[in-house]
Order: sequence, then structure tokens, then C-alpha cells
Amino acid sequence: MSLRKNIAEMAGYIPGFQPENEDAWIKLNTNENPYPPSPDVAKAILAEVGTDGANLRKYPDSGSREARTIAAKLYGVDPSWVIMANGSDELLNNLIRAFVAEGEELAFVHPSYSYYATLAAIQGVRVVRFGLDDDYRLADFPQRYTGKLFFLTSPNAPLGFRFTNDYIRQIAGRCDGVLVVDEAYADFADANAMDLVAQCENLIVTRTLSKSYSLAGMRLGLAIARPEVVAALDKIRDHYHLDRLALVAAAAALSDQAWLSENLRKIRKTREWFSTEIRRIGYRVIPSQANFIFATPPDLDAERIYNALFERQILVRYFTDPLLKHGLRISIGTREEMEQTLAALAEIG
Ligand SMILES: Cc1ncc(COP(=O)(O)O)c(C=O)c1O
Repeated sequence: MSLRKNIAEMAGYIPGFQPENEDAWIKLNTNENPYPPSPDVAKAILAEVGTDGANLRKYPDSGSREARTIAAKLYGVDPSWVIMANGSDELLNNLIRAFVAEGEELAFVHPSYSYYATLAAIQGVRVVRFGLDDDYRLADFPQRYTGKLFFLTSPNAPLGFRFTNDYIRQIAGRCDGVLVVDEAYADFADANAMDLVAQCENLIVTRTLSKSYSLAGMRLGLAIARPEVVAALDKIRDHYHLDRLALVAAAAALSDQAWLSENLRKIRKTREWFSTEIRRIGYRVIPSQANFIFATPPDLDAERIYNALFERQILVRYFTDPLLKHGLRISIGTREEMEQTLAALAEIG
């Protein structure tokens, strides 16, 4: 048995901890949404299953036509500019497969989503990391970046700031390859880069339904890109990548924009309240455009705080990365969950 060398040598991705007895925890470690999805989602899934599950005999619509059409209308593009996916992770993976050959190079911002490196390792692709300066701009981005693909996470995870559209446009103009703007958290932000897809020839936007639409458990994402990119991604993906339940869930969730708006309003309000209150007890907080904040305790000992919260069955995200180990990424839960978390932090001191 002989594995490919890069697979044998790589470390697998370690997803955020999912406790077995989920209800016993305040779970603020994987940026899930604390509120349920639109009630239309459960209705659509139940209708699809029916009383006897007969629909499940049949393969799903390989082209996700209904969901694509709804997403296209929502974002003001032709359906040929939309692809649905089994989580936006599937898109990140397939974008690498489409644009970067083994031995070629891609880049991403450091710190950002660590899964990019895992996906690059699977493909046998070289990786370059661009750091950030004090103004949250790329510290050492060259006048021309010649790698095949650049992942720009905006809003940034885990720091929570977003790049302005002017800056993103500039970066796109300096990339020889494609610029993938990973907008997993953009619904929580004041602005987004969606309009840039039509303006910049090499720009692609990815989104997820995991966070703002409360559907992490359904595994749904989408990308807006030029039709030739969508066609390439359609060639690469598994032909039945989305099951029948995911497809009806996507259509129902994307159609209920009133539910989304109300959800976003609550999360943003709690985010602003929690940011203010945690600052009052001495934490530094980066102003967040996402459904989490990155908060640094006064003594910079984030591991101690993580452990003390863990003992109280409150889960947040701690990173061992030297650039991040002074802080914690705390997802925004319900107001009650955040009040309890704040009380625990004040008690831990
Ligand atoms: C920056 C970023 N991109 C993509 C994803 C993946 O999202 P999905 O659940 O759609 O695969 C995440 C998930 O945490 C993320 O933080």
C-alpha cells in the first residue's frame, strides 16, 4: 500500500470540538447561529420526506436548479453565475482543484481559515501566507502576485474585520490568478464584495448557509462567479453533491429574507452589546463584522480563560497559533448565553 507522499505526511484538519451532550453547554466555539432557521425549512424538508419517504427513492436534481434560480434573483445575477455546494468548504476545495495544479502555488491571509492549508496539502499545492499590518491590510503583498489563487477571507476569521471593497478591487488587480473572496460571514457585515464579481474578471465570491441562515447541519454553500468558472466547478463536483433535503432546505431558507433580516438584527445587536460589556471588564476587542468577536484578556493569558470557561461548560475557541494565542474567538449566541458568558468572565477575572 502506498499513499501519495503529501497525504501520508499531512496532518488532517481538526474541526471545532463538538461535545456529546450539546445541550449541557453554552457552545460559542464554531460560529453556529443560536436561532433556528426559517420555519419554512422544516416544512419543506418534511414535505419532501412525506409520510413514506417515497421521494427519497429518486436522485436529487443534479443541477440544483431551483436553489440556483432563487440565489441568482437574490444577488441580481443570471443563474449561470451561481453554483450551489455541499457547504462552502466543498467550493474552496473544488476551486483549488480547478485552478491550481500539483506543485503550483496558492496564497491566503495569515491568520485566516486554517482549512485552506489542509486543502492545499491534499492537492500537493504550495502555500504562501500574507500577514497583516496594524491597519489590517496585507503586510507584504507584492505589486503582482503570480500564484494561481488567493483566498481573501472577508470578514476575516477569526479576527472579524472586513476589507473595504476598494481595497479588495486593488488586490484583485494585482493578482495574476483568481481572487476568491470567502464571505462566509458577510451577511453579518455592513457591506460585502458581491458587486465586485461583475466588475473584476478574476474575482469569485463564496458564501455559506451555515452561519446566517442557521443551517450548519445541512451543509450548504454557494458561489457567485463568471459562467465559465461555474461551468468548470460543475464539471469537478460530485454529480449528486446535494441531497433532496438539502436542496429544498436551501430554496426555503434563501426565499425567506424576512427571517434572515430579523436573525441578523438580533445577532448584530447582541454582538455590539457583548463587545461593549466585555471591554468594560478589561478585554480588548476588534470591532467585528461577523457573528463572533476576537477578544484579548487583560493578562493576555487566553488559555487560562479558555480552561476556566470550559470548566463552567462554556465553549469558546482558543488557538495555539503564536499570532492568536493571546485571544479567544467567541461566537455570538443568544443574549442570555452572552450574559452568562460575561458573568463567568467577570468571575474568572
Ligand atoms: C472563513 C470560513 N470559510 C468557510 C467556512 C466553511 O463553511 P461551510 O460550513 O459552508 O463549509 C467556514 C466555517 O467555519 C469559515 O469560517
